[in-house]
Amino acid sequence: MSASRPAAVIVLAAGEGTRMKSRLPKVLHEICGRSMLGHVLAAAEELRPERTVVVVGHGRDRVTQHLKDTTPGVSTAVQEQQKGTGHAVRMAVEELRAQGVDLSGTVVLTYGDTPLLRGETLSDLASAHEAAGNAVTVLSARVPDPAGYGRIVRDASGAFVGIVEHADATEEQRAVDEINSGMYAFDGAHLADVVDRLSTDNAKGEEYITDAAAILRGDGHRVDATVARDWVEIQGVNDRVQLAEARRLLNDRLLTGHMREGVTVVDPATTWVDTGVRIGRDTVIEPQTQLRGRTAIGEGARVGPGALLADTTVGDDAVVRHLVAEEAEIGSGVSVGPYAYLRPGAALDNGSKVGTFVEVKNSTIGKGSKVPHLTYVGDADIGQGVNVGASSVFVNYDGVTKNRTTIGDHARTGSDNMFVAPVNVGDGAYTGAGTVVREDVPPGALAVSSGAQRNIEGWVSRKRPGSAAAEAAQRALQGGDADSAGKADDQ
Ligand code: UD1
Ligand code: CA
Repeated sequence: MSASRPAAVIVLAAGEGTRMKSRLPKVLHEICGRSMLGHVLAAAEELRPERTVVVVGHGRDRVTQHLKDTTPGVSTAVQEQQKGTGHAVRMAVEELRAQGVDLSGTVVLTYGDTPLLRGETLSDLASAHEAAGNAVTVLSARVPDPAGYGRIVRDASGAFVGIVEHADATEEQRAVDEINSGMYAFDGAHLADVVDRLSTDNAKGEEYITDAAAILRGDGHRVDATVARDWVEIQGVNDRVQLAEARRLLNDRLLTGHMREGVTVVDPATTWVDTGVRIGRDTVIEPQTQLRGRTAIGEGARVGPGALLADTTVGDDAVVRHLVAEEAEIGSGVSVGPYAYLRPGAALDNGSKVGTFVEVKNSTIGKGSKVPHLTYVGDADIGQGVNVGASSVFVNYDGVTKNRTTIGDHARTGSDNMFVAPVNVGDGAYTGAGTVVREDVPPGALAVSSGAQRNIEGWVSRKRPGSAAAEAAQRALQGGDADSAGKADDQ
C-alpha cells in the first residue's frame, strides 16, 4: 500500500558537523555528484510532499544559498542555537504554521547527513504509519554497534514503549541493539501539539524529539517502531572517513543498477559514477573511469580505461580511451584517444576521430573527419571527411580576441600547420607540410607558405670541425656507402 502525499517533510540540518573539520557545512559535502543534503532531498522528493522544510543553523547562509540553487521549492527554518532535535523540529513546525500549512496529514522527519537513504524507505515508513493509524512511527534499525544511538525500548510483549538516549540509558537498555534512526513518520496534528511539550530534563539539557513517542503514548495514542531492512541506509556521516564509506556504498549501488540494466562494468572498484549518469546497454566501462554530472553514454560504446567524463555525451558504439572531457559531445562511432582532452564545446560528429595528444575546445569536427595526432583545435569548424595533419595548431588567440577557423569538406591539411585565425580553408583544399595559413585558401587550391629549400654545402665541416656529425659527413662524402664505413670501424 502506498502512502498519501505527506503534508510535509522536515529535514534537520542545523548541526555543526565539527568532526568534518571543514569550512564547508557538513551537509554540503558531496558524494556521487550531489551534496549529502541533496541526496536526502531527492529521497524526500519521491514522497511528493506538499512542503519540504530544512532546518538550518550552522553555516546557514551557505546551506540556504545551496538550496536556492539546487532545490528552489524547499523552504528553510532557522534554528539560531542547537538546543536539540526537538527544538529543531519545533522551529520547522513554527515555520510551517507561519506558512499557513495545514498539518493534518503525515509529516516525515529525517536528517540531512544520511546520503544513503532511499525514497522507498521513507515511503514504506509513511505507508506503515498510515496503515496502522499511529500518532508516530519510528524507523528503527538493528546495528552491529549501537553505542551512541538512542535505544528502542519495548515492553515484555515486545510492544514499543519509547526511546531512551544513550547518555540517559541504563546498562540493560544500552545492551539493546535496536536503535532509533532519527527518521519518523508523524501525524502532523499530534506533532504540532507535542513539540510544545518537550522538556529539557535529560543528560544534555536539550529538547529531544525522541521524547515525543513516550508523550504521545502517554496520551493514549498508538505509537510504534518499524525496523529498517538495511541499517546502512540510515547511517549518518560525521567525518571524512564515513564520507568516503558512504561514497563507496552509493557508488556500488549506482553501478549495480547500471549492470542490472545491461552495462558491463569491468572493475567496479575503480569506476565512479554520479547520480543521474545514463549509460546504454552493451556499453563496456573499462577500469579507472569516472562519469560525472549529466554525462550520458549510448549503447555499445567502450569507455576507458582511464576516462574522466563530465557533463559529456557519448554516442552509440563510440570508443573513448584515456580521455578527459568536459561538456563535450561525442557522436556515434567516434574514436577518441588514447590521451585526448575535450574541453567545453567540443562536438565530434558521427564517425570522426580525435587521436593521441589532441586537445579540442569549442570546435565542431564533421562526420568522418580525423584529427589523429598532436594537435590543438580551438574555435574551429571542421567539415566532413577532413584529415588534419599531425602536429597542427589552430591559432585562435591573438592576445586580445579569440577568432575562428573553418576547414571545408574533404580538405587535407599537411603536418605541422598553423591556422592563424580568422582564416578559412575551402572545400577540397590541400595545404603543404609546415604551412602557416594566414590567408584564406580557395576550394581545391594547394597552400604552401615556406620558400624553396636551400642547402649550404659543407657547412658542418666548416662550422663544427671535429664533431661526430662532421666525421660522419666526411665518411659519407669520401667514399663508399654507410655499410663499408661501418665495417671499417668494426675492424
Ligand atoms: C539523535 C537521536 C538518537 C538517534 C540518533 C540517530 C535525539 C535526542 N536523539 O541522536 O535517538 O539514535 O539521532 O543518528 O533526537 N540537529 C539540529 N539541531 C539540533 C540538534 C541536532 O538540526 O539542535 C540535527 C543535526 O544536524 C543532525 C541531527 O539533527 O543532523 C541529529 O543530531 P545529533 O546531534 O547527531 O543527534 P544524536 O544526539 O546523535
Ligand atoms: Ca548523530
